[in-house]
Amino acid sequence: MKRSANTVWHHPIVTRDDRDVLHGHKSVVLWFTGLSGSGKSTLAHAVEEYLHKRGASTFVLDGDNVRHGLCSDLGFSDKDRVENIRRVGEIAKLLIEAGVITLTAFISPFKADRDVARRLMPHGDFLEIYCECPIEKCEQRDVKGLYKKARAGEIPFFTGIGSPYEAPERPELVVKTGELTLDESLEKVLNLLIKKGIIVPDI
Ligand code: ADX
Repeated sequence: MKRSANTVWHHPIVTRDDRDVLHGHKSVVLWFTGLSGSGKSTLAHAVEEYLHKRGASTFVLDGDNVRHGLCSDLGFSDKDRVENIRRVGEIAKLLIEAGVITLTAFISPFKADRDVARRLMPHGDFLEIYCECPIEKCEQRDVKGLYKKARAGEIPFFTGIGSPYEAPERPELVVKTGELTLDESLEKVLNLLIKKGIIVPDI
C-alpha cells in the first residue's frame, strides 16, 4: 500500500546523462539469478573486478550481504522474498540513476518479481543473466553447507528443496555456470556488455 501521499517529485539538475559523461560509460543493471550455490555472486564480483580495473563505476548488491542490513528484517517466506527483491529493484534503479553499473546477485526465484524489477528500469537497462547450474551440482558443491542442512530439515523453504525456483524464459544471457570456468563465464557477460554498447572491446 502506498503511504507516501502529499509528496512531490523534485527534478534533479544533474541528470543521468550528465553522470554518464562524467563516468565515461552508460549505466545498466546486470541482474544475476539462479539457485543458491550456482555462482551468481562469484561471477558478479568477477565482472565487477574487471570493470573496476578498467575505470568503470560499479557496485554489487549481493543477497547474503543485503540481508545483513537493508533486508535484515526479512526471511525466506514467499512474501519476504517478494519484498526483498522489490527493495533491491528500487536500490538498483537509484544506482543506475547515479550512473553506476549495478550488479545484483540474488536467487530472485520468482519470475513475476524479476519482471517487476525489469519494468522499474528504462527499457533496455535491465539485463537478466541466468546462472544455470543443476541443483545436483549446487548441492554437490554446497559451499555454505546449506543444502545439507535443508535436506536434514533444518532450513524450511530452501530454494530448490522446499521452495520453487522459476527459471527465466527469455533472459538476455544464460551462463551455464555448472559447466563453464569462471573465466569463460566472465567472457560471456563481457560479450553481452559489448553487444549492448556498455563497454568497448579491449584492443
Ligand atoms: S531471495 O530468494 O530472496 O532472492 P537471497 O538471494 O536474498 O534470496 O538470499 C539467498 C541466500 O540466503 C542463499 O544464498 C543462502 O546463503 C541464504 N539462505 C538462507 N535460507 C535460505 C532459504 N530458505 N532459501 C534460499 N536461500 C537461503
